[in-house]
Amino acid sequence: MPSIKDFSRLKEEGRKISMVTAYDYTSACILNNSPIDALLVGDSASMVMHGHPTTVHATLEMMCWHTAAVSKGAPNKMVIADMPFLAHRGNLNATMQAVDMLMKSGATALKIEGANGSLKTIAHICESGVPIMGHLGLTPQSVHHLGGHTLQATTQSDADALLDNAHELEKAGVFALVLEMVPADLAKKVTDELSIPTIGIGAGPATSGQVLVWQDLLGMNKDFSPRFLRTYLNGYSDILNALNKFDADVKNREFPNREESY
Ligand code: KIV
Repeated sequence: MPSIKDFSRLKEEGRKISMVTAYDYTSACILNNSPIDALLVGDSASMVMHGHPTTVHATLEMMCWHTAAVSKGAPNKMVIADMPFLAHRGNLNATMQAVDMLMKSGATALKIEGANGSLKTIAHICESGVPIMGHLGLTPQSVHHLGGHTLQATTQSDADALLDNAHELEKAGVFALVLEMVPADLAKKVTDELSIPTIGIGAGPATSGQVLVWQDLLGMNKDFSPRFLRTYLNGYSDILNALNKFDADVKNREFPNREESY
């Protein structure tokens, strides 16, 4: 079973890490047979699977259901589950209960957004034997504080603060760090200074690996085309074409034919 040791080894060996989000059993089965290194049950599920406007709407129950489905479909992969909005910001008992529920749902590791005010909790979770992936830059759970899904750490003081937080998270014990929507030069500096791997999204080419959301990578959201995104399938139009064809076959009485009937 792949583990966080594989993550460190990949960085040590100078090999890039690929990570893709996953939310359901069927796509996890496909991912299980792919060379992708790790699956992220992102709280982006709240948006791309449930239609909410932000990840603030992800709940612990939602994340547990998605994590359970993905871990069943992808037994050979490392499955990292997002701690949902505020799940680690209450008292330690409630936090550890949330950690326990996500791990028992099948996660191999958890991801926690941000550092300010969370370092002690993150250290405690790591010391409890639960691998934690950090997440800095655009932390979408704080979208209302940040004022939108925009590029972060664009001033020198914000860049310095992010670099400090990255070091603090490493000290707290995180095994890897997602850098989202930060200037490429800053992502390179963080990656060079830390010994843990960094995984970028909108953070340029120098991070130790890259992550994309399943629906974005497969071009399924026709209204989402940020500069950082490369699509590898025309999912939206290919699926629509298939549906048009099925509809036409049904209405033209061409489906099912004799061979497709009993
Ligand atoms: O929830 C998510 O999909 C994420 C990735 C974009 C890193 O956190």
